[in-house]
Amino acid sequence: MIRNADLSRRNRSPLSTEDLLIRNCKAGDLHAIRRIEDVSFDDPYSPMVFWALYLSSNRIFRIASFNSKVIGYSIAKAETKDKETFAHLISLAVDPASRKKGVGSKMLEDTISQTKEIFQSCKGIGLEVRTDNKSAIALYLRFGFQRTRTIPNYYGIGKDALAMELHYESKW
Ligand SMILES: CC(C)(COP(=O)(O)OP(=O)(O)OC[C@H]1O[C@@H](n2cnc3c(N)ncnc32)[C@H](O)[C@@H]1OP(=O)(O)O)[C@@H](O)C(=O)NCCC(=O)NCCS
Repeated sequence: MIRNADLSRRNRSPLSTEDLLIRNCKAGDLHAIRRIEDVSFDDPYSPMVFWALYLSSNRIFRIASFNSKVIGYSIAKAETKDKETFAHLISLAVDPASRKKGVGSKMLEDTISQTKEIFQSCKGIGLEVRTDNKSAIALYLRFGFQRTRTIPNYYGIGKDALAMELHYESKW
């Protein structure tokens, strides 16, 4: 991922996930996604970036909705190198009011499942995350992602990224 996360944390009561719906993003969701983006990252993607991602091919753009309100989104793209397809998690964010209730985990599970279903012969998924984003790193480790390398100054001077990968053959 290419931005810096707002790392503020709050304790929340558990959310019943019975009414949680994860589905493909529609154009009408982009406004709500922007709001989540703006409160989740220090350097949010612009509306143009979201439109470009929305209109692009070879991408999976999913949203989580609770009681018809968009509370999270994830975007993954297919990348082909040496004739092998690997997914790249471009972004994942949950509305601060809905965090720590299992929504991020459900979105990641859904995104992994979608990449396997939609990206032909997808070998795995990779991402970048800020090295001080403990919550996101813990989430990825729980799903079996491995740390592959540190990328110095990826998010700006002194702000390093951790690259992580999940190979589907090994766990999924
Ligand atoms: C990273 C992020 C997507 C995680 O979303 P989330 O909805 O909070 O994820 P989950 O609820 O599935 O898991 C987060 C934590 O809540 C805990 N949790 C899940 N369900 C819970 C429940 N019912 N009660 C209490 N805790 C719960 C999990 O164990 C996990 O704990 P940990 O942080 O100690 O590892 C979210 O924090 C976010 O949007 N951050 C800002 C954007 C960002 O950093 N994105 C990733 C960039 S790489």
